[in-house]
Amino acid sequence: MPLTLADCIQLDAHEPGQPSWAQAGDCFDPGTPGTLYFDANSIGPMPRTALVKMQTVLQQGWAQARRRSWNELDWLEQPRKLGAAIAHLIGADMADVRVTDTTSVNQYKLLRYALHISAPRRVIVLERHVFPSNRYVAEGIARDHLAELRFIDDVSDLTAALAPGDVAVVALSHVDYRSSTRLNMAEANRCIQAAGAMNLWDLSHSAGAVAIALRDCHADLAVGCGYKYLCGGPGAPAFIYVHPRWADAAWPAIAGWMGHADTFAFEVDYRPGSGTDRFLVGTPPVLANAAFSAAADLWREVDPVALDQRHCSLTDTLIQLFDEQCAAWPLRLTSPRNHAQRGGHVALQFEGASALAQALVDKGVIVSSRKPDALRWGVHPLTTTHQQLWTAVQVLRQLLESGSWQDPRFASPMV
Ligand SMILES: Cc1ncc(COP(=O)(O)O)c(C=O)c1O
Repeated sequence: MPLTLADCIQLDAHEPGQPSWAQAGDCFDPGTPGTLYFDANSIGPMPRTALVKMQTVLQQGWAQARRRSWNELDWLEQPRKLGAAIAHLIGADMADVRVTDTTSVNQYKLLRYALHISAPRRVIVLERHVFPSNRYVAEGIARDHLAELRFIDDVSDLTAALAPGDVAVVALSHVDYRSSTRLNMAEANRCIQAAGAMNLWDLSHSAGAVAIALRDCHADLAVGCGYKYLCGGPGAPAFIYVHPRWADAAWPAIAGWMGHADTFAFEVDYRPGSGTDRFLVGTPPVLANAAFSAAADLWREVDPVALDQRHCSLTDTLIQLFDEQCAAWPLRLTSPRNHAQRGGHVALQFEGASALAQALVDKGVIVSSRKPDALRWGVHPLTTTHQQLWTAVQVLRQLLESGSWQDPRFASPMV
């Protein structure tokens, strides 16, 4: 029997695990009335308290206390507090996660760190079609003669890439930013570590959407965006994870005063801070951290297993609706059908993906596209409802039926 609107409403009413998904959703601003958001893979929804948090920092911190805020408020503590608040979502201990800098910068820091630890090995293995910034960062390191790059097309090439025994670190995306294919972290890490190399994971498209078990999967290093499913706000700082067995193993690649063992001693020489603290570099972005702290307050209460189940229910429903409502059109599911192999978004292949995405946005269904033909539906487990999925797929179906997505005004590409 095909799913009905009534089934979707029923699915929303059934809330195993978490106290109430509706209550969790109410903690976020609903956005523009009549708009349905499927772009958590790009910028997650805004917690309502973000406004007050920002206002407090501006008024009490900047306008009034000014320099004294560093002593009187918790500005310097935020990189640790935010890291601690999200640690359980990625299966890490609180002490092993910091929120700082961007994913690209953290990727640089950890690639260099891994090269240092693994010397004289100097090969970085990475996926050829990884998110471009991750590749650029590695290319820059190689250009400085600090490493050699070895590309793989697919994780199935890993064993061959590791065979020469010269690999320092393998950098993998947990979830592919186009197809949403999720790698088996435990299996990949076994293979990497058996070859004497380190692993570095980019969790940008899984953290805050699905359960991640860094510790249990023996992950060495990880990074990920704060502004996507984690709802840290536009341009929010990223997170960085270092397994405790490595945290004190070497100097950080960028030795800054915030990572010094005694920041305000202003010593002439650098001494790395203990553990993950050494990966902090400069002054924390206080305003951005204030916005992120609104989401952190919510994440502290979220059970990652329940979150994963909710995400599974939503994205399974979305796929079923695509199958049942849109079978007449050449939309092809490129994300895996099995939730355990899927990340935060659901991707469809469609020749006119860019135009169709813009037509959907025009109708208030906010999705994104990626070249050449991927249509991405970023589902946030805390705010998306099954009923919204139903409504959005009806809009998709109407656009396909009428052909109005082919209107010339949808022809120029959008970000
Ligand atoms: C998988 C992945 N890695 C890294 C980045 C870049 O992150 P940042 O802008 O924080 O450097 C993105 C941005 O979308 C991404 O999708």
